[in-house]
Amino acid sequence: MSTVQTPAATTVDPTMAAGTAQFLSPVVIGLEALVVNGKQAHWHVRGSNFIGVHELLDSVVAHAQDWADLAAERIVALGLPIDSRLSTVAAKAKATEVPAGFAQSDVVIRAVIADIDAVLVDLEAAIEGLNEVDMSSQDVAIEIKRGLDKDRWFLFAHLAA
Ligand SMILES: [Fe+2]
Repeated sequence: MSTVQTPAATTVDPTMAAGTAQFLSPVVIGLEALVVNGKQAHWHVRGSNFIGVHELLDSVVAHAQDWADLAAERIVALGLPIDSRLSTVAAKAKATEVPAGFAQSDVVIRAVIADIDAVLVDLEAAIEGLNEVDMSSQDVAIEIKRGLDKDRWFLFAHLAA
């Protein structure tokens, strides 16, 4: 009688998993911070172009949440955990530029762009570092960077030249 053995959690090399976690964990943290701070911006933006910026910020938040999920689940798929508890995000993420209260849209947009730029730094490091670690994990970072670059452009385009 044959017995079916429980499969291994993953088939990946532990060094590859650890490298992926090293480079994608900061991306998850930064994106989760962008989710929370982007909502803060969405609620408090004011100005003549209110509705466009208000709605755009909600799409920035939705994309950030989707990409955090993508990066986190790449780490978990390789068998390692990700600590994205709110207290950990608060301790590790760069402090937001988004103000605490109501602000004009140009101020809010500049602040969210600064927050996005902090995530882009981590994404560039991930793309560079993962080149020697794992192509599939690097692909996750590249996909996220491509989308975040676009959201940054949509925000930047609201600023007067
Ligand atoms: Fe809303």
